[in-house]
Amino acid sequence: MIKSRWFIATITVIGMVALFLSATIYRSPFDLGEWLASPYATWMLTQGKNPYPVRNLQIPPRQELSMMALLGKKIFFDASLSGSGKQSCASCHNPASAFAPDNNLSVQLGGDDLHHAGARAVPSLTYLYRQQNFSIGPDNPENESNNLQQAAALNALTARTQKNTRNTQTSAASMVPQGGLFWDGRVNTLQQQADGPLFNPAEMNAGNIATVAKKLNHAAYIGDFVQLFGSGVLRDPSLLVSEALFALARFQIEDTHFHSFSSKYDAWLQGKARFTDSETRGYAVFNNPAKGNCAACHLDQVTREGLPPLFTDNQYEALGVPRNSAIPANLDGQYYDMGLCGPYREDLKEQARFCGMFITPGLRNVATRKAFFHNGVYHTLEDVLNFYNFRDTAPQRIYAADTGGHIEKFNDLPQQKRTNVDVTDPPFNRKLGETPVMSNQDMRDVIAFLQTLNDGYASSGIAAKP
Ligand code: HEC
Ligand code: HEC
Repeated sequence: MIKSRWFIATITVIGMVALFLSATIYRSPFDLGEWLASPYATWMLTQGKNPYPVRNLQIPPRQELSMMALLGKKIFFDASLSGSGKQSCASCHNPASAFAPDNNLSVQLGGDDLHHAGARAVPSLTYLYRQQNFSIGPDNPENESNNLQQAAALNALTARTQKNTRNTQTSAASMVPQGGLFWDGRVNTLQQQADGPLFNPAEMNAGNIATVAKKLNHAAYIGDFVQLFGSGVLRDPSLLVSEALFALARFQIEDTHFHSFSSKYDAWLQGKARFTDSETRGYAVFNNPAKGNCAACHLDQVTREGLPPLFTDNQYEALGVPRNSAIPANLDGQYYDMGLCGPYREDLKEQARFCGMFITPGLRNVATRKAFFHNGVYHTLEDVLNFYNFRDTAPQRIYAADTGGHIEKFNDLPQQKRTNVDVTDPPFNRKLGETPVMSNQDMRDVIAFLQTLNDGYASSGIAAKP
């Protein structure tokens, strides 16, 4: 009698626990596989907490700027160097907008009259401090074009592995283009980079080295050059300009406003913040290979060395984003911006496989951006998420129809280059008419998660505003 009562009580308790567990698992944004693989971590995640808080995240320490970096800062804000006399680096890379434009134009205006439109969206200058040189394959420290051609040949022979959030290690090791600055990686260092916008006719259009040197000679901060390099620098225009570019690079590397790691996500990584329910669900979708699969390319885990993630694997991909008629260059039907294979980058023109590939941008501060993708075709994160969700399942929502009513997918690439577009990595492996990977709620949640990547999250006092 007593025995059977105990038996019934035990069964009831077990039953209730099982019911509670299955309800928890069912209601959580994580699937059964994740629960079975790591029940503790998944439970903590459902609570909005980081299961494995990182105690000594490698965040660059705040320090006084060197004199070189301070000089670079003055140059960064100096509009007098431009051809128009009205545009500085900060005009397109505004510190108040994560060093990106504060208007929502797809491409910015520059040149002498400030009417000359650029051809690409302006990237944020945040989080470039650990950018690697451009290479094809990971172990190619050299970047001479000889080696690039060899590596490109090897790339042609290797099969591409599918990228999903569960195999980021394998894809990181493959022979693919990665690293570099600009959307096409055509320069490597911040110093090399700065002469691009300075002399670009659609940007600062500063003229030539002699004109810039002359303007520097008249700048209020010319004394800084003399103090740093001696008065000889005044008589050597190319040395003067090259030191100015070096100073600009030092500013971007030393000033932690460019990489403050002060987002809610950084606080969460350190166990000092909790996600809301929507952020938690968004994080789950972002990492789930059967849903967003975003983290396969936009890496979100702390590196083995304890470095905080930058939300990019730095690799190049052709996503086939729609053509943007707001870019004046696109009025010419024969003009195509094909990223790695030109027209701005010249050394890989012959590598047809790379046409249409652009670097995977980091997503820190992405929710502050007002133009998305290399051609700035979208202006809201909702549109970006729709692109990922519907490009293949309902392309009529993404691409305009031609006069005959035919939907032209990947219309920002010449016909014969469209086969380069990624159709293997989820969520791009879906077919026409299939159910999209994300629900409307999933997409809203991913956006809530992306907002945790904005710098300037101040709660709990660990991350002071920049
Ligand atoms: C008229 C707008 C404009 C101005 C002014 C401007 N830039 Fe840019 N910047 C751009 C555009 C557009 C790109 C992307 C170009 C590309 O990918 O081909 C870019 C890219 C960059 C990048 C590479 C970012 C990355 O993610 O790879 C850096 C660094 C940069 N600019 C620094 C500067 C500096 C320093 C100055 C001042 C000397 C400056 N820019 C002035 C528009 C501008
Ligand atoms: C296969 C790799 C890959 C996957 C998976 C992926 N992305 Fe991207 N992402 C890219 C590349 C490459 C670009 C730039 C493409 C271009 O400009 O042509 C990009 C651009 C973006 C941008 C625009 C950023 C900017 O500064 O313009 C956002 C936002 C973004 N991705 C979010 C996501 C989200 C959210 C997901 C998951 C739903 C996701 N990505 C999945 C590779 C990927």
